Amino acid sequence: MVKVASGVSKIKLSGIEEMNELAKKVDGLINMGQGKPVFKTPPPIINAAKRALDEGHTKYTLSRGIEELRVALSNKMQNYNKIDATPEEILVTVGVSEGISASLLTYVERGDKVIIPTPSHPFFRIMSEFVGADVVEVPCREGDFALDLEAIEDLVDENTKAMLINVPNNPTGKIYEGRQLKRLQNMAVNQDFLVISDEIYEYIVFEKQHESIAKYGKDNVITLSGFSKAYSMTGWRIGYMHATEDIINNILPIHNSLVVSAPDFIQVAALKAVEDTTSMNFVKATTEEYKNRRDFVLRRLNEIGLPSNLPEGAYYAFSDVSSYRMDSLGFAKFLLKVAKVLCVPGISFGKDWDGYVRFSFADVPKSALSEAMDRLEKELGRM
Ligand SMILES: Cc1ncc(COP(=O)(O)O)c(C=O)c1O
Repeated sequence: MVKVASGVSKIKLSGIEEMNELAKKVDGLINMGQGKPVFKTPPPIINAAKRALDEGHTKYTLSRGIEELRVALSNKMQNYNKIDATPEEILVTVGVSEGISASLLTYVERGDKVIIPTPSHPFFRIMSEFVGADVVEVPCREGDFALDLEAIEDLVDENTKAMLINVPNNPTGKIYEGRQLKRLQNMAVNQDFLVISDEIYEYIVFEKQHESIAKYGKDNVITLSGFSKAYSMTGWRIGYMHATEDIINNILPIHNSLVVSAPDFIQVAALKAVEDTTSMNFVKATTEEYKNRRDFVLRRLNEIGLPSNLPEGAYYAFSDVSSYRMDSLGFAKFLLKVAKVLCVPGISFGKDWDGYVRFSFADVPKSALSEAMDRLEKELGRM
């Protein structure tokens, strides 16, 4: 049998997929597992895509993306992210996922150290290991999930090549403090490593404003975002990155080899999303709806014995289940069996988080969330 590449042989399917497989067979399931928004993409974006198809936007584009979209995105980054961005510093990608993969493939090789503050999305670790990095997970502070900068400072050495952060964070909803981000950007410049900052949930923020690390200086930072979450466009596969021109030019040949360019007509539709006020109103209205769901779910989780911090952004609750004396996969399987509620085991987000599970309220209307919480209360009450 042909052996897989050594980068792949270490990689295991995440607990998320294992749970999804099990959930397929469950009747009456309430799916609080997936981070996929329930809403339809706003009509102006859909119409822009249809028009673009009719007008023949069906070809490869410049690998870095169409000029109009890069101009619009650099304006958006100046206004919303407070990053001093230019169109030459933007690369349009096939989602944040491709942007992160292209960044790691360009900069990280066997033996490099990659630091990942956890909990964090499983694909940060998977892709870093795939390119041969020695991954070091640094748990955020239990309680408020702030970055542990002292621990990070102690770990950074001459082998450190990159750090992957996610703000607002999936699964905790944490928006890291500006002073921490500023210190991290300084550290990256002084110690010469890259901070790869995934900001896909940047618009889904509640009381607090979103903070971009590159606002404190764009050197040594790659900022990634996209349309999947805020505009309910997970299936469109479009995103973008910002970095200094030399970084973008280094990543460009890898991006070009992976995908050539993001699809032409979808770039035209993304331009509509960036410029259209109706679509921005949609983002604001759905964020308000996520906030209502958050308030409801968080109150109920805390009442029924699943202590959870109030997320500042994104649409997840990360709940402490350590008092139930099961590991997180065991607990998630248990909830699926007795309550038919799907959640994701904390171990999927890092080795230190086996006492937690993640509940998503992206894809579940309030009535079903209420039913899910009642089921959990009943089953946990029996224990
Ligand atoms: C933290 C994080 N980054 C990136 C993605 C995927 O982004 P995209 O659809 O732009 O590839 C997800 C999707 O769940 C996510 O949670």
